[in-house]
Amino acid sequence: MNTFKELVKSRRSIRSYLGRRIDPEKLELCAEAALYSPSACNSQPWKFIIVNDNSAKEKMRSSVFSGLYNMNSFASNAAAYIVLISKKTKLPASIAGYLMRTDFRQIDLGIACSNIVLQAEDLGIGSCILGWFDQRAARRILNIPRLVNIDLIIALGYTDQGPSSERRLKDRDETVSYDRY
Ligand SMILES: Cc1cc2nc3c(=O)[nH]c(=O)nc-3n(C[C@H](O)[C@H](O)[C@H](O)COP(=O)(O)O)c2cc1C
Repeated sequence: MNTFKELVKSRRSIRSYLGRRIDPEKLELCAEAALYSPSACNSQPWKFIIVNDNSAKEKMRSSVFSGLYNMNSFASNAAAYIVLISKKTKLPASIAGYLMRTDFRQIDLGIACSNIVLQAEDLGIGSCILGWFDQRAARRILNIPRLVNIDLIIALGYTDQGPSSERRLKDRDETVSYDRY
C-alpha cells in the first residue's frame, strides 16, 4: 500500500490513455472522495457530474476539446470525465470570503479536485485536470443551465505511459519559509 507521501508524489498529469473502461464503482469512489472534502462553513458549494455514458462521452470528445481548445485534444481519448461545478456557498462563507478577499468557493472546489485525482491515483487511474475547454459545448451536452459555470473538467483513464514531462518544482526557498515571509 502507498503511503500518503508516495501517493502525492506519484500523481502526475496523464495525457495518454488506454481504451480500457473504468468501473463505475471506481468513479463513484472518486466522487465520494470529493464529497468528503472540507469546505468553508461546510457549504459544500459543488456539483460533480460523472460522464461515463458512451453517447455523452462521444459528444464531449467531438466538441469540448477541439478548435480553440485543441491543445487539450488528448482529453478526447480519456475513458471518463468528472465535471466540477461550483455552486452558491453559505452566506457566512460568502461574507467572510468577501472580507478576506478570497473566493472560498474556488478553494473548496480545488480541494475537492485534489481529492478526486489522488483517489484516482490510488486506484491506478491516471488523470489530468483541465481548465481550458469549450464551456458552452460542455454545458449543452450535459444539460447544464446557461448561467452555471463549469470550473474544471478532470479527464480520467488508465495509461501505460508516464507523464509527458519531468516534474519541475520551483526552488524551495521561494515556496516555503519558516516563521517569516
Ligand atoms: C486549475 C488547473 C488547470 C489545469 N488545466 C490544464 C489544461 O487545461 N490542460 C492540461 O494539459 N493540463 C492542465 N492542468 C495540469 C497542469 O498543467 C499540471 O498539473 C502541472 O503542469 C503540474 O504537473 P503534474 O500534474 O504532472 O504534477 C491544470 C491544472 C490545474 C491545477
